[in-house]
Amino acid sequence: MKINKIIIVSAVLLAACTSTKKSADTAKVNEAPAAVAALSPALAKAAGTRYPGVAHTDIMEGEKLYTGKCGKCHGLPAVTDRTEEKWPGTISWMAPKAHLDDVQKDKVLKYVLCARDVATKK
Ligand code: HEC
Repeated sequence: MKINKIIIVSAVLLAACTSTKKSADTAKVNEAPAAVAALSPALAKAAGTRYPGVAHTDIMEGEKLYTGKCGKCHGLPAVTDRTEEKWPGTISWMAPKAHLDDVQKDKVLKYVLCARDVATKK
C-alpha cells in the first residue's frame, strides 16, 4: 500500500517535471523575433475583416502606441468616443502632439478602428 502511494506520487512528480520542461522549451522557440502577446481573437477577427492580410504585429503596435501615448495629456479616449468617420481626422490632429510618425499614426488608426469594431460588435 505504502509502496503504491510512493509510486503514484513519483509518477505525478515526474509528469509535472516533464510538462514544465516542455512549456519552457516552447517559450524559447516563440521568443524568436517579437516576444509580444498575440491579439485577442476578437481583435484579430476584426482586423482581418477590416484590413485583410494586415500584419497582427501592426495592430499590436498600434495598441501599444495608443495606450502608451494617447493618455498622457488627457485620459485615454475610449475607442468608441468618436465615429469611424471622425477618428482619422482626430488622430492626424493628435499625432504631432504624441510624436507619431506617419507609419505609427497609421498603425494607431488601424488599431482604434478595429478595437472600435469589436466594442460596437460590428
Ligand atoms: C501633448 C499632449 C497630447 C497628447 C500626447 C495627445 N493629446 Fe489628444 N488632446 C490634447 C489637447 C490639448 C486636446 C484639446 C484640444 C482642443 O480642444 O483644442 C486634445 C483633445 C483630444 C481629443 C478630443 C478632440 C475633440 O474633438 O474635442 C481626442 C479624441 C484626443 N485628444 C485623442 C488623442 C489621441 C488618439 C492621442 C494619441 C495619438 C492624443 N490625443 C494624444 C493633447 C494631447
